Amino acid sequence: MSKIVVRHVYKVFGRRPEAALALAREGRSKERVLADTGCVVGVNDLSLSIDAGEVFVIMGLSGSGKSTLVRHFNRLIEPTSGQILIDGEDILGYDRQALQQLRRKKISMVFQSFALLPHKSVLDNVAYGLKVRGEARAHCLECAGHWIERVGLAGYEQHFPHQLSGGMRQRVGLARALAADTEIILMDEAFSALDPLIRADMQEQLLALQQSLHKTIVFITHDLDEALRIGNRIAILRDGRLIQVGTSQQILQQPADAYVERFVKRREAYL
Ligand SMILES: Nc1ncnc2c1ncn2[C@@H]1O[C@H](COP(=O)(O)OP(=O)(O)O)[C@@H](O)[C@H]1O
Ligand SMILES: [Mg+2]
Repeated sequence: MSKIVVRHVYKVFGRRPEAALALAREGRSKERVLADTGCVVGVNDLSLSIDAGEVFVIMGLSGSGKSTLVRHFNRLIEPTSGQILIDGEDILGYDRQALQQLRRKKISMVFQSFALLPHKSVLDNVAYGLKVRGEARAHCLECAGHWIERVGLAGYEQHFPHQLSGGMRQRVGLARALAADTEIILMDEAFSALDPLIRADMQEQLLALQQSLHKTIVFITHDLDEALRIGNRIAILRDGRLIQVGTSQQILQQPADAYVERFVKRREAYL
């Protein structure tokens, strides 16, 4: 069963979206659309589906449309055109209330910049999502405590974000997303700012947690090694278009074009 379905989504940034959309539909390049209309095509006729329980990686160079794409999944961004279904429901038709439910109960997000509340303790940061959902304080704190322990931060409950290292802050972000107990977690370059060893640690921990949680995880990275390590499937974007989607093996053995091959070659150069 598909958890998230994206159908022919276009996202145009700028003042003349209709004109830009028409050109994009004709197959004009991103540069050409920009030159002709002053608009940036962030996502270009993109369709894909993400299965329940998979770790789905979205990869591509900076500016390829990764963040723009995933921000459609909780409607932080509205498409210029196209359809987005979650659990078979058209989320673009949601009213305010349904959208709020989607964001609080079904999808949580972990950001590269951590996005923690600076004046709140680790415990309160992790409990925050449950609190805004209106759950009883005792339950929020108990649940937060549980996830703080699961991500390896026991003992730091009363610390504040500025007292923590980058890796620890990212664990708080992860614990917050896990405490919200949503079926879907979006992780936008969540580990990209971390030192390599800490990053490898976090990858391992995420995979270990996923073994028992079976969440649908949409994980963005610009790093092929990370993608290969954690993804059940990998989607590769360029200029807002989906270039290839497949398992690690498919990406490595049958890169769809020269762009994908470049990622693969660059990786080999480091091995
Ligand atoms: N709010 C915005 N206004 C204008 N252009 C944007 C905006 N957000 C993203 N873009 C453009 O859309 C494209 C995709 O950006 P983004 O999704 O942030 O890429 P990535 O996350 O892969 O680095 C880029 O060309 C970027 O400049
Ligand atoms: Mg991004």
